[in-house]
Amino acid sequence: MVSDADNNSFSSAIIFILASVGSAVGLGNFWRYPYLFGMNGGGSFLFAYLVSVLIIGIPLLVLEISVGRNLRMPLIELYEKKCAKYKFLSYIPFFVEFILFSVYLVIMGWTLSYFVSTATGNFNTFDNFILTYDGVIYALISLLLTAIPIYFGVKKGIEFVSKWMVPLLFIITAVLVMYSFTLPGFDKALEFYTMVDMNKLMSLNHWIIAMSQAIFSLSVGYGLLITYAIYNNQKESILRDALIISVLDCLIAILAGIFIFTVVFTFGYDVGQGPALAFIVLVSIFEVMEFGQIIGTLFFLCLFLAALTSAISLFEYLLSNLKSKFNISRGNLVIILSIIIGLFSIPSALSYSPLKLELVGMLFLDAMDFYIVTLLAPLCVFSVVYIIYFVNKDVLIAEIDVGESKFKVAKYVYVWLKYAIPFIVLILVANIVLQYL
Ligand code: PHE
Repeated sequence: MVSDADNNSFSSAIIFILASVGSAVGLGNFWRYPYLFGMNGGGSFLFAYLVSVLIIGIPLLVLEISVGRNLRMPLIELYEKKCAKYKFLSYIPFFVEFILFSVYLVIMGWTLSYFVSTATGNFNTFDNFILTYDGVIYALISLLLTAIPIYFGVKKGIEFVSKWMVPLLFIITAVLVMYSFTLPGFDKALEFYTMVDMNKLMSLNHWIIAMSQAIFSLSVGYGLLITYAIYNNQKESILRDALIISVLDCLIAILAGIFIFTVVFTFGYDVGQGPALAFIVLVSIFEVMEFGQIIGTLFFLCLFLAALTSAISLFEYLLSNLKSKFNISRGNLVIILSIIIGLFSIPSALSYSPLKLELVGMLFLDAMDFYIVTLLAPLCVFSVVYIIYFVNKDVLIAEIDVGESKFKVAKYVYVWLKYAIPFIVLILVANIVLQYL
């Protein structure tokens, strides 16, 4: 088996970046971001999003990477060793990520099914898809495809997939964008990106949506990057790594948006259709568009690969936290976790099937996504930010400054993390309490 110590770290700084980009670039970029963008008015959302990445995304990335690289413990162990009193705080992100993973697998299954049906020229519609139980099968296949690399470990599994799939993802996205140059809706898509509505920028709610999406898209605020940073032995600039990860994540989201909006505008549809954008609107366009089958196949392949590398990071995060608590080998833990997650993702998959499984009057998957993943997200961020209050200040600052000869910004990042971010998190929590509870 693969328990050799050699297999427990990434072989280079670039691999760490690729794996983190793989985690960040996911369904959030290709599915959630474009529809949020469409619903929240083009350029105004882009602006709020980029500012959010800068003020909350990058600082959290820096915190997680520095903590993981210096203290070398996943979130739960970190709390147990350094702040046992509040260790329940570390269970929140673990629980939320577990639920997120079970939901993620279902949607990843949709992308796989759409990839297969488009590649074979069937152009499955969502209405037809939910008349079958295919959703369950595809979710379980997605789980299997995620579990295999995890079983093989950090170097032989995660590194291998990140090294090949993340660049491939970028290449396919570039091809899709190049194709969109040839369509008449391209200019309109660019125009949409530059449309700034001052009224929207004055709305707190607009900023809250943008911040939540920035946090979700960068995979920060759960301690997941702490896990990946443990596998990073290279003492290089954390600030540089955080910048590269966020720039690449934003780039993919923007390019995915350009492609999607160009196609949607070219065929005269409305971009503000919410979650249906990728799985309903685009499919009907691919069916009639010139080269629609090839472009559609590439698009769903892209979605699937993006989801796969994110799902791998979710699985590894859950595994690393459990592994620090229980003395079970990686192989056995992968099997146990796969069974539990597989069972748990079935009700979500059954929501979009003839059974239409519900919970509290909502489809099960939507209920999980809303009541757990969305409502608890700010608390997860809080539990990660709280780390700053119990780890040694000098150690953290020194770690952030490693490899920084010119920009010694660690002190400022530290102050920002300690005072400004909790304030932002408070606004996010207050918003949820006022809006939903
Ligand atoms: N960042 C991923 C996406 O954009 C989602 C994700 C969130 C993955 C949190 C892991 C942890 O789809």
